[in-house]
Amino acid sequence: MKLPKDKTAIVTRHNKVVYDCDDTVAKVFNATKPSSDIVNEALNLTRAEQAGIDVPALIEVGKTGNNWAILTEKVEGKTLRQLMNEAPEKSEEYLTQLIELELSVHAHRAPLMNRQKDKYARMIADASDIITEAQRYELLMRLDGMPNHTKLCHGDFVPSNVIVREDGSMCVCDWAHATQGNGGADCAITYLHLMLNGEEENAQSYLRLYCERQGCTVNYVQGWMSIVAAAELARGRVAEHDYLLSMVDVVDYV
Ligand SMILES: Nc1ncnc2c1ncn2[C@@H]1O[C@H](COP(=O)(O)OP(=O)(O)O)[C@@H](O)[C@H]1O
Ligand SMILES: [Mg+2]
Repeated sequence: MKLPKDKTAIVTRHNKVVYDCDDTVAKVFNATKPSSDIVNEALNLTRAEQAGIDVPALIEVGKTGNNWAILTEKVEGKTLRQLMNEAPEKSEEYLTQLIELELSVHAHRAPLMNRQKDKYARMIADASDIITEAQRYELLMRLDGMPNHTKLCHGDFVPSNVIVREDGSMCVCDWAHATQGNGGADCAITYLHLMLNGEEENAQSYLRLYCERQGCTVNYVQGWMSIVAAAELARGRVAEHDYLLSMVDVVDYV
């Protein structure tokens, strides 16, 4: 894959850089990132597209130098994150749009997508150096008892992963964590993300609006919080370690 010299970085993270290459966007991963993760992300993207979701079109998966990269068509617009930052007073309106879109994704099915429970069970097992054996057992029991659904779940449904075009239509990017499973887990992830981003008010509004719209109780989503917090810990979120651990600790008191 050949990238233009005059590309500009959209975001730089510890394990990747996402570049604007004029009419395409290249997500270039560090050489240490396993190729299976990159291929899985691209596969998830195509499966979501096949399920009927508005996603950036995949152009190429390949290498640029030693690094694996995913090239997609650039979607012109602003992310919901940018819009929320520009007009914080409209946050509730944007969160409502986020929820409508999230629930419309959950209405789709993708029978070949990885199963959510398998993924979380693996991640909880991987967190053995961070949470105790008793906590892992408790979390795995809780996970096992969660209702079995087959909804298409994005796994990281946050405002920065939604691009709003000028005509108001919305495109969902970043399918690295997608699975089929229970929408409540997606909701818990979005809530945790907003909390970790220092947006407590938005997090509480989001949770309230989601539950109202979905017709479920806050308790139902809270059942997922400790599970997704443990999964985030397994992903190595060092900066948020204490908060995530406090969410996992909930299992000791129920
Ligand atoms: N195809 C695309 N068109 C336009 N912008 C994109 C596209 N893909 C990614 N972006 C932008 O790049 C940012 C980071 O890409 P993303 O896939 O979400 O990476 P990360 O996994 O680091 O969050 C997104 O928040 C969005 O602003
Ligand atoms: Mg993203």
